[in-house]
Amino acid sequence: MKKDINNRTDIIHLVDTFYKDVALNQTIGPIFTDVAKVDWAHHLPRMYDFWESILFGKATYKGNPMLVHFTLNDKVSLQTAQFEAWKTIFFHTVDALFEGENAGLIKQKAQSIADLMHFKINSPQPKIKIG
Ligand code: HEM
Repeated sequence: MKKDINNRTDIIHLVDTFYKDVALNQTIGPIFTDVAKVDWAHHLPRMYDFWESILFGKATYKGNPMLVHFTLNDKVSLQTAQFEAWKTIFFHTVDALFEGENAGLIKQKAQSIADLMHFKINSPQPKIKIG
């Protein structure tokens, strides 16, 4: 029986494993390594904070993920194939390492944020600001 995601150490394990697989993935790996040229030493701790905030309600993450991905989408199109690859790797990583209530919850959260992000990227942006 696998353990559940119980603390920041577990999140670090999940995030590190996830991005190792992401970097090797043909569909989205190059977006991280070649397009965004991600500084992993900076990105990974932000992702620990992000998931800790989402799962345990700790206010460690401050940022605007939607905006980051809008900007990224200007450089490389983020569409169904990219989101499906992201979600498949995320779910697979969670299931390979953990099981339990929080493991289920983090997959639900990932699914809904990914779907919202995909939807917003495809929604026409207002040209003018009112108010
Ligand atoms: C098509 C799928 C996705 C791709 C290709 C992608 C790619 C990236 C890249 C390249 C960055 C780093 C930007 C930079 O540091 O310059 C980033 C940051 C980030 N991503 Fe994604 N992402 C995807 C989906 C998601 C989803 C579904 C989530 C949340 C569930 C997410 C959460 C984040 C967060 C929190 C950051 C850090 C933003 C910050 O620095 O504050 N991403 N993503």
